[in-house]
Amino acid sequence: MRTPTSDIRGLFVGVEQQVPLLDGTTHVYVNFDNAATTPPFRAVVDAVEQMFPYYAGVHRGTGFKSMLSTYLYEQARLKVAEFVGADPSKYVVIFTRNTTDSINKLCHHLPLKPDELVLTTVMEHHSNLLPWWIRGQVDYVLATTKYGAPEIEALKKKLEEHKGKVKLVALCGASNVTGYIPPIRQVARLAHQYGAMLLVDAAQLVAHRKITMQSPDEEEAIDFLAFSAHKMYAPFGTGVLVGPKEFFRQKPPDVVGGGTVELVTLNQVEWTEPPEKEEAGTPNLPGVVALSRSIEILSEIGFDYIQEHERHLTSYMLKRLAEIPEVIIHSDPNPQMSENRVGVIPINVKGIEHSLLAAILGFEWGIGVRHGCFCAHPYIMHLFNIHPDEVQPYLEQIRRGDHRGLPGFVRISFALYNTTEEIDYFISALKQIIRQGPRAKYVVQTRTGEYFPEGFDYDYSTYISSILSSHHSG
Ligand SMILES: Cc1ncc(COP(=O)(O)O)c(C=O)c1O
Repeated sequence: MRTPTSDIRGLFVGVEQQVPLLDGTTHVYVNFDNAATTPPFRAVVDAVEQMFPYYAGVHRGTGFKSMLSTYLYEQARLKVAEFVGADPSKYVVIFTRNTTDSINKLCHHLPLKPDELVLTTVMEHHSNLLPWWIRGQVDYVLATTKYGAPEIEALKKKLEEHKGKVKLVALCGASNVTGYIPPIRQVARLAHQYGAMLLVDAAQLVAHRKITMQSPDEEEAIDFLAFSAHKMYAPFGTGVLVGPKEFFRQKPPDVVGGGTVELVTLNQVEWTEPPEKEEAGTPNLPGVVALSRSIEILSEIGFDYIQEHERHLTSYMLKRLAEIPEVIIHSDPNPQMSENRVGVIPINVKGIEHSLLAAILGFEWGIGVRHGCFCAHPYIMHLFNIHPDEVQPYLEQIRRGDHRGLPGFVRISFALYNTTEEIDYFISALKQIIRQGPRAKYVVQTRTGEYFPEGFDYDYSTYISSILSSHHSG
């Protein structure tokens, strides 16, 4: 296995960044919010910067820069296909803005007869729920285990119930709430047996496990794959949707405009071929270059290392959390259970509201976590055992503009640069917070439900002006 963690940390921008604390000191930021977004690889930033002197509009430009830019853009497409094991003669790689955009695009294109539907699960992020919900022809595989995993038997039951009518099974590759990885190959086989296609929302999987789509005619193939570059150390605004080439020929694009056509008259349009048909407007070359470079680095580090390191972090954190009786873990607390999960751990601390705990960790310890419901409200309600009928009072409270005291967790999420030392620091912070409470008086904002230390505010302008001045002088 390659690379001790210190080498790995050197690959990133900002992971040794000092941030201000409430007491006027600073501390190296501990980022346990990687499921939201990840810091960039240094080489990704360098690649984008190296590209800029040659940056120009891709496609249809005849100048050198434009041709080079087009070359980079199309090479990146091939790289993505190779990275996810998608044969470019069968699958098309479409660059989007992010996973959300990718799933909405698929939703637009999916042909559904009136009696057909999409099957998704209660475990999904809203980005893999709301597009189908809005479309209206949807059913949900409910959670059948304590930690909310919709089991294969439950999926089978639903496929049987809607026999021949399920056009697509839309499932996350890993949950952004519990880190749970469903048995994708098994789901693929089952979906295909029932004549359905499979979408894997790989937003939480792509930076943590090797994904292989396989050939579309194989039983265990993934038909559609969606992911975001910003969750894989390339935060420059690119997402990906991969799917069978033929599929995207059937319908006009979801977004129309420049680049999507062969010919337009005032009463006719001839759409061009995918992927161009699906990438309306000027493409995001910096984003695509960033993604391409991040793929190279991830491949160089290797998923064996990544998986093993993140498994170790998750298992170590679970062991250390078990030392604290006040901690409630809402995913499987077994440190040995590591094969089918990524490094995401949702917790509560008895007696401390999740939003207050997250604020104390940030203001007093320089630890970044996320709290709340993580764009997965149905899943959180399931994990909290909140019946749909019990949601009404929360809804009424929110409609009054009051977000205080709503249910939620604090989420710890790892990336490949995190260390056990950071976990030790987090655990000592947690123990001290539980023992001694906050070091300041915190007040809650009604509108957001967020806590802030009374009379304290960061002076953001000093950070912004230093960035601006370094740009001016640099
Ligand atoms: C499982 C899952 N799907 C989809 C998304 C949406 O990703 P994006 O915001 O990049 O579109 C997220 C984001 O956290 C996610 O965790």
